[in-house]
Amino acid sequence: MAEDRERWGSRSSFIFAAVGAAIGLGNVWRFPYITYQNGGGAFLIPYFIALITAGIPLMILEYAVGLKTQGAPPVALKKIWKKAEWIGWFAILIVFVLATYYATIMSWAVNYFYHSFTLAWGRTGPEINNFFNNILLGKSGSPGILGGIQWPVLAGLAITWILIYLALFKGVKTLGKIVYFTVGIPWLILIIMVIRGLTLPGAIDGLNFYLTPDFSVLLNPRVWLAAYGQIFFTLSLAMGTLIVYASYLPKDSDITANAFITSLANCGTSFFAGFAVFSTLGYLAQSMGVTVPEVTTSGLGLAFVTYPTAINLLPVASQLFGALFFLLLLTLGIDSAFSQVEPVVGSIADKWGFNKKWVLPSVCIFGFIVGIPFTTRGGFYWVDIVDHFIATYGLTLVGFLECIVIGYVFGASEIRGYINSVSDVRIGPWWDVFIKFITPIVLGVSFVMQLIKLIQRGYGAYPIWTAFTGIGLLIVLLILSFVFSKRKGGNP
Ligand code: TRP
Repeated sequence: MAEDRERWGSRSSFIFAAVGAAIGLGNVWRFPYITYQNGGGAFLIPYFIALITAGIPLMILEYAVGLKTQGAPPVALKKIWKKAEWIGWFAILIVFVLATYYATIMSWAVNYFYHSFTLAWGRTGPEINNFFNNILLGKSGSPGILGGIQWPVLAGLAITWILIYLALFKGVKTLGKIVYFTVGIPWLILIIMVIRGLTLPGAIDGLNFYLTPDFSVLLNPRVWLAAYGQIFFTLSLAMGTLIVYASYLPKDSDITANAFITSLANCGTSFFAGFAVFSTLGYLAQSMGVTVPEVTTSGLGLAFVTYPTAINLLPVASQLFGALFFLLLLTLGIDSAFSQVEPVVGSIADKWGFNKKWVLPSVCIFGFIVGIPFTTRGGFYWVDIVDHFIATYGLTLVGFLECIVIGYVFGASEIRGYINSVSDVRIGPWWDVFIKFITPIVLGVSFVMQLIKLIQRGYGAYPIWTAFTGIGLLIVLLILSFVFSKRKGGNP
């Protein structure tokens, strides 16, 4: 069976694909807004600690599991421990939900790309806010009111899923080639944006906000959980993406060097993108006569409200910059989006022996249909709520479970022996300590603390029932994953 498994064209195409999966909206949309929400420079410390204590160790772990077992997550985890297959399915179901709202955000970017040619979002701050909230999204005012579909968003969603399908249907060899563009182009645009941002008046205020640490927030558990959630999201961890990608590698491929390259390239990109975003925010603050934290209150919409404002305020070539920026969001997002779909397709195909040619379009169509509620007038709130539950609770929970299964059932030192046998850079016993103790303890403690707060106060300013809907969603996915793992597979 291992013989006819698909393979990457070359080592560099694997690294490009892994970097492409990592670098996405998480770097240019989610990182800036989470950083902004959690106090700017203050956030960078827990973020960096999360990278070291959970990001890199877990990435090494997932590469090792995929490479060793040569299977998609459910099969892979089953080979590690007979009873762990459901964890793989849980990850797959979560990443499927993630893909549906991720595609919705890409659909917003499709719309903005289209409107950038005429700068249709208006000129003044209030106009731009109005464009995002009322014209494009037609926000209903509450998650309880769905209030009809916003057709341009639905059209953007269809375009996004077609792009995902086209990118994937030739298999992983082409995937390696596509990412030369989906990683290369964004970096070029980013460099232009950073230079533009840094030369704007007021940029320095933004950078001060971004880079000045504030140690007092380190006592706030919310900031820590946000940091871990963001690390998982941005490195595409705990969702099977990396297991499945590594399973297409030949069995003797290097693990540790690949993990260090991908995680550092990814977090470097976020940090770099931060310069573009925060220098522009500094400029905005100055031109509006307010301080940087006062520029905007819309978390999730930061990229879609602040950026067009900044683009408008540029002295020349606004259309070009607008189009470039949203092209950046799209090219970055597309390879991440298909890295979310690939594990779902791979897992179904691996377990039941179905032909991927059929599984792929079915998953894309199903994903599009599941995403339709996000295109309604109440959809924005649901993107926000589902993102919180999937990215914060779902990802940390799977990460925790992976640590337990590998660390205790399979044996951390055993898998480390395997990792070192194929890697140039050897890892020491410190890795076992992370996988068995530090990572699961930090994840477990922040998970429980945050869950208690959630049940008491709900999520954000939303009514409390939305929090229970979010928890309910996770429980439904959990039950489904047990059901799937009990079904007999077509593959021995
Ligand atoms: N890492 C991607 C980003 O930053 C998103 C992503 C792709 C992802 N594949 C994933 C997140 C799997 C979690 C799991 O945009």
